[in-house]
Amino acid sequence: MESAFDKFLNRQDKLLKQYNQKYFDKQHNKGKLTARERIELLFDPDTFEELDAYTPPASVSFGKTSKAYGDGVITGFGMINGRQVYAFAQDFNVLGGSLGSGHAAKIIKVQDMALKTGSPIVGLIDSGGARIQEGVASLSGYANIFRRNVLSSGVIPQISAIMGPAAGGAVYSPALTDFIFMTKSTSYMFVTGPDVVKQVLNEDVTPEQLGGASVHGTKSGVADFVFNDDESTIQGIKMLLSFLPSNNIENPSYLKPEDAIDRIDESLRDIIPADPDKPYNIYEVIDSIVDDNKFFEIAGNHAQNIVTGFARMGGFVIGIVANQPQTLAGTLDIDSSVKAARFINICNSFNIPILTLEDVPGFLPGMDQEHAGIIKHGAKLLYAYTFSTVPKITVVLRKAYGGAFIVMNSKGIGGDFNFAWPSAEIAVMGPEGAIAILYRKELAEADDPVKLKKEFAAKYRDEIANPYIADEKGYVDEVIDPAHTRPKVIKVLKSLDKKSISLPRRKHGNIPL
Ligand code: HXC
Repeated sequence: MESAFDKFLNRQDKLLKQYNQKYFDKQHNKGKLTARERIELLFDPDTFEELDAYTPPASVSFGKTSKAYGDGVITGFGMINGRQVYAFAQDFNVLGGSLGSGHAAKIIKVQDMALKTGSPIVGLIDSGGARIQEGVASLSGYANIFRRNVLSSGVIPQISAIMGPAAGGAVYSPALTDFIFMTKSTSYMFVTGPDVVKQVLNEDVTPEQLGGASVHGTKSGVADFVFNDDESTIQGIKMLLSFLPSNNIENPSYLKPEDAIDRIDESLRDIIPADPDKPYNIYEVIDSIVDDNKFFEIAGNHAQNIVTGFARMGGFVIGIVANQPQTLAGTLDIDSSVKAARFINICNSFNIPILTLEDVPGFLPGMDQEHAGIIKHGAKLLYAYTFSTVPKITVVLRKAYGGAFIVMNSKGIGGDFNFAWPSAEIAVMGPEGAIAILYRKELAEADDPVKLKKEFAAKYRDEIANPYIADEKGYVDEVIDPAHTRPKVIKVLKSLDKKSISLPRRKHGNIPL
């Protein structure tokens, strides 16, 4: 007769045998790792504790079932770079990683544990969505997962990586999390797939065209990160976690810097071109001032007129929002406003100070933008900056005109320390627009209007569009030597360490959606 302990061992043996060569080959042949391999790569060696490994799939009267233990998802917790993280990895080998009731219950359990213990949670998605044969039980499973995503929002970091299909319900849980990774060529996300598109619209489209990593990393902006393969995606997740605290009551970790705090960079004095309409590359400024020149960019291929990402300065984690003069002259449009607003919200949720590097001629004009609601979407950025209570520092490098000056963390909306380089142009509008309005009559009557326009523009820059009026009136705190930007920012960042402000009590704010 089988002893109690033998029974225990036999059960373990059965589970191990489930992960045979055929199991591995099925995923490897598609250029993907298995759920188990992904989990092993994600966690520090020998730290992962699996939960509910023996969950059986529900028995159903219609459609296929499976005999596999675990119901198509591996769940548990462990250490990532020494910090506790919960995770789940969907197993496409079991009923296409589809979400049945047992599968959902396992995810719900780790969501609850992550929230209870103040630990980040990572979801590795590879799923055909709601398990068709389990019907409404699958839908309810998703509903319960979505609810927990929302309850955890702003409390613990939630990270999703799409590493295969994410169809139907499988897209909405990631959409409710803080960051979405996608793996090039092997992942795609859509609410309704190519078959439905064909049936409803009679259009032929491939999964890649409809919702591949190239679409979501550039056009839609749904994906914050696109990596080449499973391995680099998982490395990316670990890097991202290194900038985040475990929850909203902790601060991000401090890392004693090897890079000198008082390092100056004289090349920054010449980085702004003499011609105010010429672009330069904002990445050169960012790389120059952050610790070890290391910048971890978020959504780097979407709305490239604004740059967002994490770095450290003097060892402190900082979120950077920077206009990029090389794309659309650094103007604010709908996509860049939404991208930056979301990033600011994440920084504020997780106690990450924000550094704004400003060079923005204004909002992008035109029918397209106005009709698509730039008023509402630009207001998101204004709202996010104003509402955030983390330390906020701005450096105006060049243009800071009109509404864009106000929106990009001006002192009036709550900037704590606002600096300007000598090249800053701070005014209601640029010289051309201002002169056309103020001197319309004079220009119309002039013998040489081009020459007169030039003269007015030079006078306007000299008298109005410079940093000194703002400095004298306190709208910026100091005009600084560009070479000293790094030590100056680190100094005030340290001084803001204990910043504390409270907002009026309310149920929640009403950000323009
Ligand atoms: C049950 C599923 C499944 C599902 C896939 N499978 N999706 N089983 N429910 N939703 C099974 C298949 O039957 C197959 O089983 C195995 O998984 C692998 O699937 P394949 O189709 O062979 O793989 P592939 O060709 O790679 O295609 C993957 C796929 C496709 C694109 C994901 O399977 C697919 O379109 N699935 C359905 C997607 C979908 O519409 N889901 C429901 C969405 S509604 P065998 O035994 O043959 O290996 C939804 C509601 C929630 O999610 C909405 C909330 C807002």
